Amino acid sequence: MSTDSREVILGVGAGIAAYKSADLLRRLQDRGYLVTVVPTPSSLNFVGAATWEALSGRPAHTQVWENVHEVAHISLAQKSGYFIIAPATADLIARISVGRADDLLTNLVLASDVPKMIVPAMHPNMWNDPATKLNVETLRSRGFIVLEPDTGRLTGKDSGQGRFPEVSRIVTEFDEMTGNKQDFLGRKILITAGGTREAVDPVRFIGNRSSGKQGIALARSAQLRGAEVSLIAANMDSSSLDGISIINVESARDMQEALQNEFASCDVLIMCAAVADARPTAKLSQKIKKAFFTSIELEANPDLLAELSSQKSHQVMIGFAAETNDHIESARSKLKAKSLDIIYVNDVSGGAIFGKDVTHGTILLRNGEEIALKEVSKDALADLLLDYAIRQLG
Ligand code: CTP
Repeated sequence: MSTDSREVILGVGAGIAAYKSADLLRRLQDRGYLVTVVPTPSSLNFVGAATWEALSGRPAHTQVWENVHEVAHISLAQKSGYFIIAPATADLIARISVGRADDLLTNLVLASDVPKMIVPAMHPNMWNDPATKLNVETLRSRGFIVLEPDTGRLTGKDSGQGRFPEVSRIVTEFDEMTGNKQDFLGRKILITAGGTREAVDPVRFIGNRSSGKQGIALARSAQLRGAEVSLIAANMDSSSLDGISIINVESARDMQEALQNEFASCDVLIMCAAVADARPTAKLSQKIKKAFFTSIELEANPDLLAELSSQKSHQVMIGFAAETNDHIESARSKLKAKSLDIIYVNDVSGGAIFGKDVTHGTILLRNGEEIALKEVSKDALADLLLDYAIRQLG
C-alpha cells in the first residue's frame, strides 16, 4: 500500500491542551488533509472519543485490540503521509523515545516511517527535567521534528516554558515539514466537475460517464496549496470535500448560470466537467410512454468555456478534452478556439479513465509546449496543472 500525502494521523496525548488539538484538527482539514485521530487511552480523560469522531468523521481508536482483523496499526501507518502528535506529554515522549508500543498510538509511531512532528505541552519542570531533555534529543536525532513549547502562563499559577504552541505556529511548522507550498494563498480557483444531465422527461436524462474524480483531486490540491476553492459539481459525490464551497448543478444551463455568478471573481478557471453539447428541445412535464419514445430532438447547448473566454480579464483558463482519436490535433484546436492557456487531453478510447484514480494523456500549453503523461494519478495531474497555472498567473 502506498502512502497518501493527504492522510494525516493526529496523535493526542493526555494533556489539558488536548482540547486545543480540536482546533488544530480543523485547521488541518481546512487545508484539505484527511485526519485520523488516535488518542492515548488516558487522553480520553480530557477529550472523549466522541469529540474526535464527530470532528474527524472517522473512528478514534486507542488500542490495537479494536478491529483486530483490520490490523489497524499497520494499515493506518501504511496509508498515512504524515504524523503529528499534539499535545505530547513527558510520558508519551519517553515511551516513544524508547520504542514502547503499549497503545495504538505508540504502535503506529513504530510502524510508520513518514515524517513525524511532536508538539510537547507540559509543566516547565517536566520539560526542563534532564530525562525529558534527553528523550527529546533522542527523538530529534532520529529525525522527529519536536517543536519548542511556548513560554507563558500555564493552567495553574506557574509560568515558564511548556505551553502548547499557538495552533497557527503548529500549522506553519507542519507546512514546512510537508513542503506544502501555499503558493495559491489569496487566489480563488473555480473548478467545474462531474457530468451534466439534460432532462428528456421527468424520469430520463442524457448524461455521460464523468465521475468527478479529477475535479475532486483538483479541488483538494488547490485547497492544500492555500487557494479559496469553489467547485461547481454536476451530478457527482462531493461529500469528501470539507472547507470547499460546493455549488450543485444538474444541466449545462444550470452550470452556465453558476459560472456567470462566480467567474469574474476567480483567478483560475478549470473546466473539468463533461458538459453535454446538446439538450432535448422539448420541455416535458410528463413521462414519454414507451410507444412514443422513438427519437429525441436536440438543440445545441452553449459552449460555456468559449463564452467565458470572451469575458476574461486576468483569469487563467484551463480546459479538458476527452478524445478517442487524433487527440493532440483536436485538443490543440480546442485550445485555440476557446482561447485557453492550458488544456489536458485524456485518451478515452475504450472507456478508459472514467471512474479510475489514474489517467494518461497530454498537457498542451498555449506556447506550444506538450507534456505527455504516461500513467499518473489524478492527484499528480492536479498538482501539475496547478504548477502550470501558477506559472501563468505570475
Ligand atoms: N465545454 C464547455 N461547454 C460545452 C462543451 C464543452 O465549456 N458545451 C468545455 C469542457 O468542460 C472542456 C472543454 O470545453 O473543458 C472541451 O470539451 P470537449 O467535450 O472535449 O469539447 P467540445 O468543445 O464539446 O468538442 P467535441 O465534443 O466536438 O469534441
